[in-house]
Amino acid sequence: MEKLLENQLCVVTGAGAGIGRAIAERFLEEGADLVLGVHNADKARSVYGDNPHVLALVPMDATRYEDLVRLGAAVRDTGRTVKAVVPVVGNGPQNPIEEVTPELFHLTMNLNVFSAFFTVQQVLPAMDRGSSIVLISSIAGFQGGQNALVYNAAKAAVRSMARSFTGELAPRGIRANAISPGPTETKAFTEFVNGDPDAYRAVVSCIPIGHIGQPGEIAAIAAFLASDESSYVTGAEIIADGGFTNR
Ligand SMILES: NC(=O)c1ccc[n+]([C@@H]2O[C@H](COP(=O)([O-])OP(=O)(O)OC[C@H]3O[C@@H](n4cnc5c(N)ncnc54)[C@H](O)[C@@H]3O)[C@@H](O)[C@H]2O)c1
Repeated sequence: MEKLLENQLCVVTGAGAGIGRAIAERFLEEGADLVLGVHNADKARSVYGDNPHVLALVPMDATRYEDLVRLGAAVRDTGRTVKAVVPVVGNGPQNPIEEVTPELFHLTMNLNVFSAFFTVQQVLPAMDRGSSIVLISSIAGFQGGQNALVYNAAKAAVRSMARSFTGELAPRGIRANAISPGPTETKAFTEFVNGDPDAYRAVVSCIPIGHIGQPGEIAAIAAFLASDESSYVTGAEIIADGGFTNR
């Protein structure tokens, strides 16, 4: 079968672990060359080794504008057009309303909203007709929920950005879409259930399809949205939650 991203340059942040790593690995399987934004370069090197298709590992704190400017510069250094940019960095502290400080508020917004926006902005000069933006929102972006007001609002902003990128960039032939995962089995999720098997089972019991989402299941959607297989899809949000929000 033909690979979806053969010889295409893609950019993924948060690629050291979890969903970002799964997306980067799936894109490599699909034949892509990658520029990756990673929090910890040493850890990332142990993941990607000397894979010649990883053209650059850019160490970054995605809440820092200058780091995202460096990501953009690394992309320009390749001299190539970017097929897809996938800013995956996100998450953040969960607190009851009374315990949200201005610092925690800004951290959550910066991790999820600022980082996604400026990643795209900095990569955009290398994008052209046929390029694709894939944002990672969350079912939190259209649901309420306790102790997560700021995260929920941040993810709502991310899904909103997919629609605004669409309107502004469609005349340039650039598409933008969002993926909204439900519970997905990464470090963030393990911390959320505190390694407690009962808490894990309680989450599974709320998922009609019967299992916690695996990072590879999110990566499969990212590969579809990044590639020409989704050429008529823009401004869309794909919910991948095993039926969690429709039970
Ligand atoms: N896991 C879930 O259940 C779930 C559900 C819905 C949405 N999401 C979203 O998916 C995305 C990835 O989540 P995950 O579960 O894979 O998380 P994770 O914690 O497993 O991985 C996050 C990655 O981002 C990196 N990172 C963290 N802070 C960073 C920073 N300041 N700068 C640069 N890199 C940083 C980490 O090193 C790690 O590689 C997030 O945007 C999250 O909101 C996750």
